[in-house]
Amino acid sequence: MTKIFLDTAKLDEIREVAEWGVLDGVTTNPTLMMRAGTADLKANTMKIVDMVPGPVSAEVVSTDTAGMITEARDILSWADNVYVKIPTTVDGIKAMQEISSWPNGRINATLIFSPTQAYLVARAGASFASIFVGRIDDAGLDGMEVVRQTRAIFDNYGFDCAVLAASIRHTLHVTDSLLAGVDIITMPYPVLQKIARSPFTDAGLERFLADWAEVAGK
Ligand code: E4P
Repeated sequence: MTKIFLDTAKLDEIREVAEWGVLDGVTTNPTLMMRAGTADLKANTMKIVDMVPGPVSAEVVSTDTAGMITEARDILSWADNVYVKIPTTVDGIKAMQEISSWPNGRINATLIFSPTQAYLVARAGASFASIFVGRIDDAGLDGMEVVRQTRAIFDNYGFDCAVLAASIRHTLHVTDSLLAGVDIITMPYPVLQKIARSPFTDAGLERFLADWAEVAGK
């Protein structure tokens, strides 16, 4: 079954969706921290951990292998369900090789734009391969095709690395990700709101209640 993650660092959004009972995890990144108005990654991550028992991703900001490893050691010590997000660069892939050898080496490989990058992070021991569907679409390419190809490659080799559809912009991305058999979809709060609702449901309910009021009022 595909897991649903929320792609935000905003605590009020996470608190609300956690109450729906379908929230499996949370992903954050430096931009999402900026939007949440905090630079205290540890404090914010721990507040999320208090609300969400599933995986919570926090991203490094170093760009060199040694710096990423140092940050990862700290981030991974915060809680057992915290995953460290490592960018998919050559330095990042080298860092992933080292971090994945640790007993607590939970890695979310981020900023993946091709099936070959996804293949490499799976080889490097990442737990999640985050494919940036919306940003690939923005570049005039087909983000969902990268997801489908990655799914096929991971299945070919039985990789123990989850295909994570990220940079999700609309409901069709979610439907296509479910059809592609991804392991995880991380979506922003507005998209999660949209996939739960239909104006036809609201109109249908309004009609039912009006008809009931008419018959019950007799
Ligand atoms: C993934 O974990 C990222 O946080 C996110 O999906 C990036 O998406 P964006 O293209 O909307 O910034």
